Amino acid sequence: MKKISVTSQFTIFDSFSELPIEVQNLLEKAIAIRKKAYAPYSKFRVGAAILLDNGKIILGSNQENAAYPSGLCAERVALFQAGTLYPEAKIATLITSATSDTHTTTTPIPPCGACRQSIAEYEIRQDTPIEIFFTGETGEVYKSDSLKNLLPLLFNKNLLEKD
Ligand code: THU
Repeated sequence: MKKISVTSQFTIFDSFSELPIEVQNLLEKAIAIRKKAYAPYSKFRVGAAILLDNGKIILGSNQENAAYPSGLCAERVALFQAGTLYPEAKIATLITSATSDTHTTTTPIPPCGACRQSIAEYEIRQDTPIEIFFTGETGEVYKSDSLKNLLPLLFNKNLLEKD
């Protein structure tokens, strides 16, 4: 029997203005699309912006449903749109913005577990790490250089095959 430690690394930016200008531009797009989220049930709005290696930007917002589990998170709306429109492109960067209609979020809001698993599929498929930034309405920004920091010991397609 033995114990292991798994470590994750994040870069923390104190504010939006500390981000590189091209990331600020991407964040602006995530904020704008967040405002168009369809979130009548949770009142929690999330926007996602993806930059592809072909320069295209793909956006998504959370889309809720009266049958709650039928809704979808912003990250997966954007990921699946990117995979649909540009299946050959690699995802370079994913940035999210999240806040509530009832209170202002002041800490970075990380992607949910199901979105992490979906991001993993794309990162493994393209064999190139995806930069992930996540933010609240104000405050710090967290950056991870790869999905792996957010989902250690991840389940992936290689595990479906025989050793
Ligand atoms: N949501 C996202 O869009 N992304 C996440 O990673 C976390 C949660 C959405 C789903 C739902 O519409 C609302 O936020 C509250 O959970």
